[in-house]
This record gives sequence, structure tokens and C-alpha cells, in this order.
Amino acid sequence: MAFNREDYVSVKKEYEAKRAAARERAELRLKKVRASIPGMDGLCAEIDALGPKMYEAALQGREGREERFAEVRRRTEYCVKEREKLLVENGYHADYLDVHFECPVCRDEGNVDGAMCECMRKRLVIKGYESAGISGLCGKMSFDNFDLSYYKGEDRRNMEVILRRVREYADNFNGRGSGSLLFLGGTGLGKTHLSVAVAKAVIERGYYVYYCTAEKLFSDFRYERFRRNGDDSPIRTDKYTECDLLVIDDLGTESSGKDVTAFFYSLLNARVNTGMSTVISTNLSHKEMLAVYDERIASRLFGEFFPYLFTGRDIRMQKLQEE
Ligand SMILES: Nc1ncnc2c1ncn2[C@@H]1O[C@H](COP(=O)(O)OP(=O)(O)OP(=O)(O)O)[C@@H](O)[C@H]1O
Ligand SMILES: [Mg+2]
Ligand SMILES: [Zn+2]
Repeated sequence: MAFNREDYVSVKKEYEAKRAAARERAELRLKKVRASIPGMDGLCAEIDALGPKMYEAALQGREGREERFAEVRRRTEYCVKEREKLLVENGYHADYLDVHFECPVCRDEGNVDGAMCECMRKRLVIKGYESAGISGLCGKMSFDNFDLSYYKGEDRRNMEVILRRVREYADNFNGRGSGSLLFLGGTGLGKTHLSVAVAKAVIERGYYVYYCTAEKLFSDFRYERFRRNGDDSPIRTDKYTECDLLVIDDLGTESSGKDVTAFFYSLLNARVNTGMSTVISTNLSHKEMLAVYDERIASRLFGEFFPYLFTGRDIRMQKLQEE
């Protein structure tokens, strides 16, 4: 697993805050019952005093120590039972004074026996959707709601193969060396839909994914290019080079320029050379690609990315007609 480090650090902090809040709530409950239930304050005071009694029992020498320990333990158990009884008699749950963690498995530590708790993994996935930039999209676009009935005849057979292969790609994704994909084809054929589905599935496998439109990518690179000395805002382009899977949607719709296409080439080149995966979707054909970018970019894309040509009738239009 290689969750985004920033996400990991911030989720760790969330967990610390959760634990602190749970303890604080337990303290408040204790205060409340000590003040409101007759006999509770005395009982709690005795339980508090029994802790130091253990030390005293230890300090009084070896002889009879076990008996003294047993006596303190017996008295503690008795007081705790009495306190539970008192709570129940006054309409509270017996565990009212316990610290109530959100996750009883890891007590909001995020890990059990050195392994990440399921609750934290789930939280990191949600956080991953957010930082990947797909939290708004991933409810609408997944493999499960990719409907093949929108495609007919030969198109359907083609799209069946694409869906199966792309799904396999996502299910088997394991970081470097997983390969890169190029989604080609006309508008409204499901390229964005499948890109988001891949992003979502790969995040769920625990990888650091970043999704962006080409417009956003180019504008971030342009911003960095004109970054002023001494500007200490976070560098916007790090995520493009660091993430395990970069998903670039709508390549060809951005307002590009010679200045940033050079950056784009080095990004692609770096990712390809280090075996890092990228999924790109575009409306452009090979010929158009050559016209917009240069030969080097086109040959990287067509040489290193596995191409899938989406076919069919615009699904946006089909959905409109269904309404
Ligand atoms: N197979 C499908 N089943 C269900 N909904 C689909 C399917 N394919 C696409 N859609 C939906 O149709 C709409 C258009 O699809 P999408 O955005 O993926 O097209 P696109 O190929 O990316 O088009 P463009 O080239 O214009 O960006 C989206 O709302 C998407 O969720
Ligand atoms: Mg699209
Ligand atoms: Zn947990």
C-alpha cells in the first residue's frame, strides 16, 4: 500500500483528535454523575485512591505483598461493581463512564497488532477520493454502473472487451509497471466514466491516485513556470510526478502552448521511464495529436500507452432522449 503521504498524516491527526475528544467526553460524563448521583463522588474518590494503594502495597516489602495486592484488587473490583450498580439504578448504562471510541476494534488508534485497522483503511480511501479530485464524480461513475446496453452490435462487442480489460487493469494494479492506458474516441462514449472508475478502484486498492482534466494540468504547469522566487505556497505540480496513477481527462481541450507542452513531454517521459502509470482520455485522433503536440509526445502516447478506441452513439444524447 502506498496511500498518499499527506492524506496519511492528516488522517493520523484526525485519529489523535478523535481519541482526545472521546476521552474528554468520558471526563464530562464522569463529572456529571459525580455531581448528580448521591454516593457517586465518594465511590469515585475511593477508586481514584486505590491506584496509589497498589504502589504502597509494593513498597511495604516482599512479605505479604501478594496478599496486599489481592486485597487492593478485590476492593477495586468491588468499588467498580458498586459504581456500575449505582449507574444502572439511576438510569444509565453500566458502561456509561467508559471511554467510547468510534472504532472498538482499534480504540481509534488506526492500527491493531501493528497492522492498519479496517476503519482507517476506509477513511484513507474516502480521503483518497477527495485528494484525487473525484469525490464528486465517483458516486456517478464506476464500473458497476457502466451500462453496456447503450452500445449496439459491433460497438457493444468492442465495449464489452474494453470494460473487461480496463476492469482487469484496475483490479490488478500494483504500482510501478502496471502500464498506461489511452482512451480514444468521440464525445459521450464513456471515456471519463471509465477513467473515474479506474481511479476509484485503484484508490480502493490503497494507491495514491490523482485525477485532473488536461486544462487543470496545463494551468498548474503554467503557474509553476511563472512562479516567483520566494513564493512558498505548495508546489502544484508535485502530485503529477509523485502519484502512483495519474488520470488525465480530455487531453486536447486545454489551451496549450509551446511553453507547457515541453513540461508535458517531460512529465510523460519521466512517468514512462520510471514505470509509473498514467491513464489519458482524448477526443483527438493520432493525426490531430501530431498537429496539436509534437512528434515526441504523440509517439510516447501511441508507443507506450495501451490504446482503447471507444465506439458507439453519444450516451449523453441517449440519456437525454430517455428523459
Ligand atoms: N456505459 C455507460 N453506462 C452508463 N452511463 C454512461 C456510460 N458511458 C457514459 N455514461 C454517462 O454518460 C455521460 C457521458 O459520458 P463520459 O463523460 O464518460 O463521455 P466521454 O467519452 O468522456 O465524452 P467527452 O469526450 O465529451 O469527454 C456521463 O454522465 C457518463 O456517466
Ligand atoms: Mg470526458
Ligand atoms: Zn479501527
